Amino acid sequence: MHKIVIDCDPGIDDALAIMLAANSPELDILAITTVSGNVPSDMGAANARKVLKQLGRMDIPIYIGEEVPLREEYIDARDTHGMDGLGESFLPEVESEYEKKNAVDFLTELLEREKISIIALGPMTNLAKVFSRKPELIANVEEMVSMGGSFKSHGNCSPVAEYNYWCDPDAAAVVYDLFAKAGSKIHMIGLDVTREIVLTPNRLEYMCRLDPEMGEFIRKITGFYMDFHWEQEGIIGCVINDPLAVAYFIDRSMCDGFDSFTVVATDGVCRGQTVVDSMNFWKKEPNSRILIETDSERFFAFFMERVLRKNDG
Ligand code: BDR
Ligand code: CA
Repeated sequence: MHKIVIDCDPGIDDALAIMLAANSPELDILAITTVSGNVPSDMGAANARKVLKQLGRMDIPIYIGEEVPLREEYIDARDTHGMDGLGESFLPEVESEYEKKNAVDFLTELLEREKISIIALGPMTNLAKVFSRKPELIANVEEMVSMGGSFKSHGNCSPVAEYNYWCDPDAAAVVYDLFAKAGSKIHMIGLDVTREIVLTPNRLEYMCRLDPEMGEFIRKITGFYMDFHWEQEGIIGCVINDPLAVAYFIDRSMCDGFDSFTVVATDGVCRGQTVVDSMNFWKKEPNSRILIETDSERFFAFFMERVLRKNDG
């Protein structure tokens, strides 16, 4: 079993990623930490709690993290994820205590004690704080998978940038830089692969047939997101980015790519862009594995197998 922390900003696709992770026997989820991204970090924590309640996994602790990016003004993504961050499903609040410790302190102390892996599904603000305070802790990160960035694909919130890295470009830049200095690698699940992962109305309908309870929960939180995709991009269905990072963490054959040295641009029109030295101009050791190919049918089979309980009736 891999000990992991999921650092996220729930968020509709974060919710789906948590569902996949919580139903995966390979993963021992030590905690969910939240960061401001799609919604403010405290709202993200409330959403994580709603998802864990639905899954019957209230045993997983939730730590609330950073409220604002390192330097930029905080801009949420509620236009995409709804006012409540869960597609305006307005699920009832779940009463229970959060952990008292801030996510950054929690992660720091945990990494001081043991080796863990991190699946990062939101802006990297918490992680930048942890590793810039104590870069030596990168040695205790077994694997780091980050949903963010793009290589050949265009951005989703600027011509060149993906939201997680655009929202806090300084944090992403710091983390990639510190991983380079530590001789470690970040697995970058960017838009090149996640754009392939489209939850279509067809797939959703079939999920509802296989497992009406879980299927209807997914329908409730993704309707708004589907409307957004149709109105903004003319896509029927919605791109669910974050669960692919979980699937890839569990099964590396889920995506294919190459190792490269990557930096994240912090300013101007390129803010948040991942500059991937795929031609090795800079002759630097790779600090990233850039994933560029995936198979969406395989992903959905994997997702449905784990998240849905089959209805044989
Ligand atoms: C990423 O940004 C967020 O809106 C999603 O949750 C995902 O993590 C996609 O760009
Ligand atoms: Ca996210």
